[in-house]
Amino acid sequence: DNSTTRTLKEYHREAAELYHHILVNTQLGESALEYLHQRGLSDDLITEFQLGYAPSKRLLMPFFSEHQPDYQLLRKSGLFVESQDGKLNDRFTDRVMFPLRNAVGQVIGFSGRLLAKNDNKPKYLNSPETELFNKREVLFNFDKARVEARREKSIVLFEGFMDVLAAYRSGVKNGVASMGTSLTEQQVYTLARATKNISICYDGDEPGQNATKRALELLNSVERFGLSVITLPEKLDPDEYVKKYGAEKFADRVHHGKTGELDFYFSYYQQDRNLTNEQDQLGYIDDVLHELARSNDPIEQDLYLNRIAERFQITKSNLETQLRDVRASLQ
Ligand code: UTP
Ligand code: MN
Ligand code: MN
Ligand code: MN
Ligand code: MN
Repeated sequence: DNSTTRTLKEYHREAAELYHHILVNTQLGESALEYLHQRGLSDDLITEFQLGYAPSKRLLMPFFSEHQPDYQLLRKSGLFVESQDGKLNDRFTDRVMFPLRNAVGQVIGFSGRLLAKNDNKPKYLNSPETELFNKREVLFNFDKARVEARREKSIVLFEGFMDVLAAYRSGVKNGVASMGTSLTEQQVYTLARATKNISICYDGDEPGQNATKRALELLNSVERFGLSVITLPEKLDPDEYVKKYGAEKFADRVHHGKTGELDFYFSYYQQDRNLTNEQDQLGYIDDVLHELARSNDPIEQDLYLNRIAERFQITKSNLETQLRDVRASLQ
C-alpha cells in the first residue's frame, strides 16, 4: 500500500460508516431502511454488510471537510462528481449503498441502488474506475466467501448483490456476485485462489441461462474446476426464489439440487427447440455431442450416449461414430 491508496481506503471506510449511520440511526434513512426490511433483510444482516443510505449530494463533503482532507485525493476517490464550477458533490444520492470490499475486507468502492424505479437513472450505480476500484476484478462478498469456502469447499456465483444477500440469510454464506458485467478472467483467477469447486446459480430467465453457459466456458478455459449448476424454476432469481419458497427450500436446492455441467447443457439446448421435430432433434443431438466430446471420462460418455440413444431411438453405435467425428473436428 502506498500512501495514496491508504488514504483512499480511509475515505471509503469513513464514507461506509457514515452511510450506514444515516441508514440505521437517522430519520433521513427511514424510508431506505423500510425498503430493505420489505425486501426481507434483517437489521443484523444490514449491519453485517454495513449497508447504508446516501441521502443527498451534500453529505460527504461537509463531513470530510472537518478533518482537513486532501482535496486532490477526494477528487480521485470516485465518491464525488465535480460540478461546472469545480465543486465536489456526492456521486451517490438517494440510493441504498452496498460497500464493495477487496479480498481482505477493506472498502474500495460502492454500488448504490435506487429505492424506486426511475427510467432516467440506472437501477444500480457503481463507483467509477479508481486507483482502488476496478469492476472487472471485484467480487461482491468475496472477503467472506473465501473464508467460508474453507468449510464449504466451494463458492457459489450469483448475478446480483440481492441474490448474495438472500443466499446469505438462508445460510449459504459462500456466495459472490460480479458487478453487473459478466464474469471476467481476473475474477476467475481470484476464485481459483480460494476454491476449485464453483457452483453457478444465476437467474432462471433466459439471459441468466445464457450467462451460465458463458461462465462455464470461461471457467473451463482457465482452470480444471469442479463445476455445477443450480437452476431455478419460473425464471426466478435467487432473491425472488427465497421470497416465494423460503430460505430453507433455497438452501436445500443449493446443497442437494446441483446438476453437473453436462446435465445443464442437456436442458440448456432444449431452449427454443421443439424436440418432436426432426430438424430440431438433429440440431439438439449435435449440440450435446459437442459438449460430450470435451469429456474424457468414458463412463460419463457412455451414460449420456445411452440417454440420447434411448430418448431419440437411435442406435448407440451411430452416436459413437458421430461423437468420434465431432471430436476429430475439434482437434
Ligand atoms: P438485476 O437487474 O438482475 O438486478 O441485475 P437484481 O440483482 O435482481 O436487483 P434487484 O433484485 O432488483 O435489487 C443484476 C446485477 O447487475 C448489476 C448489479 O450488480 C445487479 O446486482 N446491475 C444491474 C448494474 O450494475 N446496473 C444496473 O442498472 C442494473
Ligand atoms: Mn420495518
Ligand atoms: Mn437478471
Ligand atoms: Mn436479478
Ligand atoms: Mn432481484
